[in-house]
Amino acid sequence: MEPQKKHCFYLLLTLMIVPIYASTALGLGGKRGGGVLVGGWQPIKNITEPHVKEIGEYAVKEYNKESKSQLTFVSVVKGETQVVAGINYRLIVATKDGALAKNYQAVVWEKVWEQFRNLTSFTPVKA
Ligand SMILES: *[C@@H]1O[C@H](CO)[C@@H](O)[C@H](O)[C@H]1NC(C)=O
Ligand SMILES: *[C@@H]1O[C@H](CO)[C@@H](O)[C@H](O)[C@H]1NC(C)=O
Repeated sequence: MEPQKKHCFYLLLTLMIVPIYASTALGLGGKRGGGVLVGGWQPIKNITEPHVKEIGEYAVKEYNKESKSQLTFVSVVKGETQVVAGINYRLIVATKDGALAKNYQAVVWEKVWEQFRNLTSFTPVKA
């Protein structure tokens, strides 16, 4: 298999095993009527939570590193999470590029128990 496909395969495999653990660990469980929800994006109720902010800051920092940019994190404007062998965070992040305000949609994949985090995508959106 190509590495990409292989990665997807393992992701899928873990997807079947881990979501219950992941959702329990993050206190997201218990409101899904017993069924395990996979692949659905759920709005983040409180985007001012320090952890959500931390994910937003991580996304901007990581993007700056990867693209040699100098964006400054301003705030998380909006966010959703998805359970996938951990949690995917899809955040609208407000930044500043010098004086210019720019919004991005950042997707960060986090596996808290492994202290693993990765910026999966970072794309401009209308401010
Ligand atoms: C949202 O999170 C912040 C920081 O943890 C807290 O101060 C605030 O009370 C929370 N708001 C709600 C509506 O839960
Ligand atoms: C993180 O994601 C990037 C692509 O977005 C990839 O190149 C890199 O290998 C990933 N890092 C890890 C540790 O998975």
